[in-house]
Amino acid sequence: MSKKILVTGGAGFIGSHVVDRLLTEGKEVICLDNFDAYYDPAIKHSNIKLASKNKNFKLIEGDIRDGELIKRILSEESIDYIIHEAAQAGVRASVRDPRKVHEVNTTGTLNILEAVLNSSVKKIVNASSSSVYGKVKYLPFDEEHPKNPVSPYGASKLAAEHYCRVFSELYGLKITSLRYFTVYGPRMRPDLAISIFTRKALSNEPIEIFGDGTKTRDFTYIDDAVSATTMAMKKGSNEAYNIGGGTRISVNGLAKKIIEITGSKSKIMYFQNVKGDAEHTLADVSKAEKEPGWKPRININDGLRKFIGEFKIAQERRMK
Ligand SMILES: NC(=O)c1ccc[n+]([C@@H]2O[C@H](COP(=O)([O-])OP(=O)(O)OC[C@H]3O[C@@H](n4cnc5c(N)ncnc54)[C@H](O)[C@@H]3O)[C@@H](O)[C@H]2O)c1
Repeated sequence: MSKKILVTGGAGFIGSHVVDRLLTEGKEVICLDNFDAYYDPAIKHSNIKLASKNKNFKLIEGDIRDGELIKRILSEESIDYIIHEAAQAGVRASVRDPRKVHEVNTTGTLNILEAVLNSSVKKIVNASSSSVYGKVKYLPFDEEHPKNPVSPYGASKLAAEHYCRVFSELYGLKITSLRYFTVYGPRMRPDLAISIFTRKALSNEPIEIFGDGTKTRDFTYIDDAVSATTMAMKKGSNEAYNIGGGTRISVNGLAKKIIEITGSKSKIMYFQNVKGDAEHTLADVSKAEKEPGWKPRININDGLRKFIGEFKIAQERRMK
């Protein structure tokens, strides 16, 4: 029987790119996604439009909160690897509705781990987040940096990571967690700053910044995040690895860069800080460089130009 890769959240931003990469490599892929309405499900359907035409692709519309469904999938399909991307993303959304975030991100991950116990799955790659670090003690964050999340989202991802570690120690499951630092690129979530700033800049509308714009972020280009994810299927220990660009830029700097690249007339406007946002993120990626042997290849200048270029093409296509 042929072996398959299950990608949870495979219709989302990162998940759909992972699906495309695996299909390009000739793998058989099952995408499990519930097309959650956190952002327009039509975007998610369009993310997997091309994949859906591939004979090696199968879509299962379902929810990771349904543990019996995951058990059934693992008993009916011959799955070698799970790439677990499904989550309720969004720091600010988690401040509004912490329970949903817990149920999807933490209980949902536990459902997958429990189902894997009685299966032939060889390894799980678990999508974690830089949000597990939260309060900054020092920069860059190495993987040993204290974990004090500042949002329910960060807490839920840290709890999920701990379940992964405990299940590998207790039951011998192979699981690598990847702490992505804000990922951007084509198909990116519409709620992320780079998407919002680009939309506003292209229509010459004011760009709104919450706080004074001195918060800094390490951004990871989607292709780099996908490479790390597919590499981690075969390499990488039962630990967590930082996956980031390895440099940081302030929110002000980001807005100015986007205005410059788009040639926009947008002005920057400042609003009161919002709860749950980390002050700074910056990844030390030396652990991932040693094993699985990954490092970021696309810097923020090149990445933003690529993203904005593709964003414009997609926008023009929609308007036709
Ligand atoms: N994008 C980033 O910057 C970033 C940074 C750090 C970590 N992450 C993590 O990477 C993963 C992917 O993030 P993304 O940005 O692609 O988000 P996304 O929202 O675009 O993708 C998540 C997908 O999961 C699906 N989903 C949500 N709840 C589900 C449920 N209960 N059952 C089944 N499917 C469900 C959604 O419909 C969506 O298609 C998430 O685990 C997220 O926490 C993302």
